[in-house]
Amino acid sequence: MIDRIMTNLIVLYILVILAMIVTGSESSNTRDAEINRLMKKLNKPFLKSIKSPDGDIIDCVHMKNHPIYDHPLFKNHTIQMRPTSYPEGWSNKDSDNEKHNMVPQLWTINGKCPKNSIPIRRTRKEDILRAKSIERFGKKDPNNIHQHKRPTNPTNDGVHEYAILKVEVNSPRAMFYGTQTFINVWKPYVQHTKEFSLAQIWMSAGSYSTQLETIEAGWQVLTALYNDTNPRYFVYWTNDSYIQHGCYNTICPGFVVVNQAFALGAAVPEVSIRDGLQYEIFTSIWKDRSSGNWWLRFGTHVIVGYWPSLLFNRLRIGATEVEWGGEIVNLKENNQHTSTQMGSGSFAINGYRKASYFRNIFVTDENNITRQPVGPSTFVSEESCYDIRYRTEQAWGSFFYYGGPGRSPFCN
Ligand SMILES: *[C@@H]1O[C@H](CO)[C@@H](O)[C@H](O)[C@H]1NC(C)=O
Ligand SMILES: *[C@@H]1O[C@H](CO)[C@@H](O)[C@H](O)[C@H]1NC(C)=O
Ligand SMILES: *[C@@H]1O[C@H](CO)[C@@H](O)[C@H](O)[C@H]1NC(C)=O
Ligand SMILES: *[C@@H]1O[C@H](CO)[C@@H](O)[C@H](O)[C@H]1NC(C)=O
Repeated sequence: MIDRIMTNLIVLYILVILAMIVTGSESSNTRDAEINRLMKKLNKPFLKSIKSPDGDIIDCVHMKNHPIYDHPLFKNHTIQMRPTSYPEGWSNKDSDNEKHNMVPQLWTINGKCPKNSIPIRRTRKEDILRAKSIERFGKKDPNNIHQHKRPTNPTNDGVHEYAILKVEVNSPRAMFYGTQTFINVWKPYVQHTKEFSLAQIWMSAGSYSTQLETIEAGWQVLTALYNDTNPRYFVYWTNDSYIQHGCYNTICPGFVVVNQAFALGAAVPEVSIRDGLQYEIFTSIWKDRSSGNWWLRFGTHVIVGYWPSLLFNRLRIGATEVEWGGEIVNLKENNQHTSTQMGSGSFAINGYRKASYFRNIFVTDENNITRQPVGPSTFVSEESCYDIRYRTEQAWGSFFYYGGPGRSPFCN
């Protein structure tokens, strides 16, 4: 009798284990299928594929397979190949009147994308596997930038820390239609592969607690996404406070790349050296007068593409806030502040060739006049870890130094 019960129990036990194995492999099968589906979506059929010396693979995707067509709102979208307008006086905004040519991206030494195609950095399976979940791949975590206070309950995604300059509209009818600045480029040390360090522009409308809309561009070191520690060009957008919609680059349909020779997510070819040569990205974002689309240009010639105004409700009308500066993620490994650097890793006070900077900062206002920001304010999360110093002067106009080393006896 006892034997009989024991046998039954053992059989039952084996059945349970078998069931667990089967459902386990079934769920890993669906996960695999999900990853493959995403890979197929991201990696479009290409006319040509170019291997970059830094390991990136660049696929030249025909305009008819442009990622924007994956978006239900843009099935019939006519891609705008050039901006139709620039804010007044933009061409002569550089005090020294020099041309800010961009050094070609590394992959271009191994080939060019054919006519009517755009370069898209290929996503590998490992890149997706490194993400927290398939759904969150290529997305920023909901963070606290537009609240400008320390988060009350830090998530396990880590704490985001900032050193930024910001300007808000000063009347209900005021708007921003553009911004322009030089962004100094460095290769900050990032301690943990799941942390990042970046320098960027944010243009936004709405509020964090209701429905924040942003368009963002700059450079970032983000190993989880790019599998290396180089600063890379990126764009971002969200129309719902980073909750669900929006992503980096073209990982979800949104930003419309039009440039045949410039790949988002590719490394910035030249990086500043302490006490040595300084490199910067001249960056312009503006709202096209007739289409309302938000254009992005690097240097004076590289028209990267645009964020269609249809992606947004508030930004469709204009931006109400602009921010410039650095952001890092602090995972607090071993309960210590991260030693991830912001900017160059030097504090603002160290100045030129040591600290990272943004210079000649302009905004374009509701009259489409481009001018220095009026009444900007600075914000830092942890002054003893990263800081910022804003000033105005003749040659550099509105500018600031910012950054810091992270962990130290004063930052722990
Ligand atoms: C695209 O065009 C087709 C045919 O004109 C139309 O039926 C469809 O509703 C359009 N889709 C969108 C999203 O505008
Ligand atoms: C990621 O980087 C490592 C180390 O550099 C390299 O061995 C590996 O092949 C890379 N993986 C991918 C998917 O690029
Ligand atoms: C945000 O964009 C998504 C897709 O791009 C769209 O489906 C959604 O309705 C938008 N949300 C808002 C609040 O506009
Ligand atoms: C300024 O630019 C915006 C966006 O490009 C446009 O909608 C508006 O009509 C322009 N305003 C003036 C006064 O030119």
